[in-house]
Amino acid sequence: MRIVLLGAPGAGKGTQSQRLVERLGIPQISTGDLLRSAVARGSELGRQAREAMEGGRLVDDSLVLGMIRERLGERDARRGFILDGFPRNLAQAHALERLLEQLRQPLDAVVQLEVDYRELVRRISGRRTCADCGRVFNLLTSPAAGASQLCPKTGAPHRLVQRPDDNEATVAERLRVYDEKTRPLVDFYRARGLLRVIDAQAEVDEVTRRLYQALGVRMARKARPAKAARRSPRRAARKGAAPRKAVSRRAAPRRKPARAASRASRTSRTSRAKPRTRVPQRPRRKR
Ligand code: AP5
Repeated sequence: MRIVLLGAPGAGKGTQSQRLVERLGIPQISTGDLLRSAVARGSELGRQAREAMEGGRLVDDSLVLGMIRERLGERDARRGFILDGFPRNLAQAHALERLLEQLRQPLDAVVQLEVDYRELVRRISGRRTCADCGRVFNLLTSPAAGASQLCPKTGAPHRLVQRPDDNEATVAERLRVYDEKTRPLVDFYRARGLLRVIDAQAEVDEVTRRLYQALGVRMARKARPAKAARRSPRRAARKGAAPRKAVSRRAAPRRKPARAASRASRTSRTSRAKPRTRVPQRPRRKR
């Protein structure tokens, strides 16, 4: 599938993209992540992008388009992709359309995640990212998540840091830029019959459910406990797995279809009937 996730800063594009990556096995292409890693590497691209990012403005189209062209040309993107944070204005949307035409890979869907302004600000101000593995957490909306896990890269607790552009002044500018430059893409994609809008102001799992529904993707089945765990619920409980509920044989009567059941009961009644036995009689006394 080839998908674009649209939405204001903090709408949950990155969070939901991660879930789609796991579900669909296609890469997430986030221009924000690509730019941040260019800044961290200190490359020429990063140097040019840094100032705009810190001010909450859009990075120059030519830089972003060059980066996207290169990334979409990579092998893993041939099976599909999730674009997160791109396109961001009409010029980028037209350029993407032309590029995908050349690659013969048209978009399948564009999903707009709708969240109101106050909730966006709350989510952004609580966001923290692990400096080592890059996982995103939130101190306000899911405070327990970061504390309870270890970083898969270091094996130590996550080192949570705040993004430099997640400060109050920059967030206000990012939201203003979104309204002015990115929101018009809603009509652009609606006119092409690609747009689906979901209310993304709900629990993360519920938003995932709505997103999958909009895309026609089935939710992943919950993993069944291992066979051994199903056979031995007590042992599984000791190991922490959720065993299958034990069913008492008495509590679960066998069901049979009506006719077969009555036939069966007739048969069993006959077969269970006691065999007739002759009771030996006492010989009569002769008088
Ligand atoms: P970018 O990194 O793309 O930032 P953004 O669009 O502002 O989006 P965010 O990453 O802030 O939010 P998100 O929607 O991904 O939310 P998340 O899932 O993290 O861009 C950064 C900068 O790079 C731009 O300002 C610009 O300068 C430049 N740039 C990038 N792309 C560009 C382009 N194409 N052209 C030009 N310049 C470009 O969630 C946010 C928080 O909320 C997290 O803490 C998360 O845990 C939490 N959360 C998520 N979902 C829920 C939920 N349902 N309930 C409660 N909490 C939730």
